[in-house]
Amino acid sequence: MKKILVIHGPNLNLLGEREKDIYGEATLAEINKNLEEIAKDEGVALTIVQSNHEGDIIDVIGKVKSDQTAAILINPAAYTHTSVAIRDAIAAVKIPTIEVHMSNIYAREEFRHTSLCAPVCHGQITGFGVNSYYIGLRATIQLVKA
Ligand code: DQA
Repeated sequence: MKKILVIHGPNLNLLGEREKDIYGEATLAEINKNLEEIAKDEGVALTIVQSNHEGDIIDVIGKVKSDQTAAILINPAAYTHTSVAIRDAIAAVKIPTIEVHMSNIYAREEFRHTSLCAPVCHGQITGFGVNSYYIGLRATIQLVKA
C-alpha cells in the first residue's frame, strides 16, 4: 500500500476556533477523519502530523525516504511564507509534494502572496476551504498511483 505523509503546520491545531471567518468551522480532527476516509476508499495509507515547530516539520520530511513514503501533502501554514529550511527539506527528499491552503493566499495580505515552498512542490491548491485538503489528497493519490 502506498504511503502518503500529511503535514499540518503551525496554528492549524486551532482550526474550528481560529479566525473562523477565514478558515471556517471544521476542526483539524474532522479534517483528518475525512482524509482518512478518502485514503481508505482509495487504498492508500496516511501518516498525519501537525506541528507548530519548524524543526519538527523538517525532521518528519527528512524521514520519508527511510520509511518509503511515496508523496507529501503539506499545509505549511505561516511557514509557507518564511521557511527556506522547509523548502530545502522538500527539495532534498525529491518525492512529489502538494502544497495546500484553505484560504486563497493570493487574495490576502501581500506577505502571504509569496510561497517559498511552491516552486519545489508538484503543485499548489489554495482557496477551497477544507476542500483544499480533499482535492489535494486526491491529486496526491493520482500522482502516487500514476
Ligand atoms: C494557510 C494560509 C497561511 O497564510 C496562514 O499563515 C495559515 C493558513 C491556509 O491554509 O490558508 O496559517 O496556510
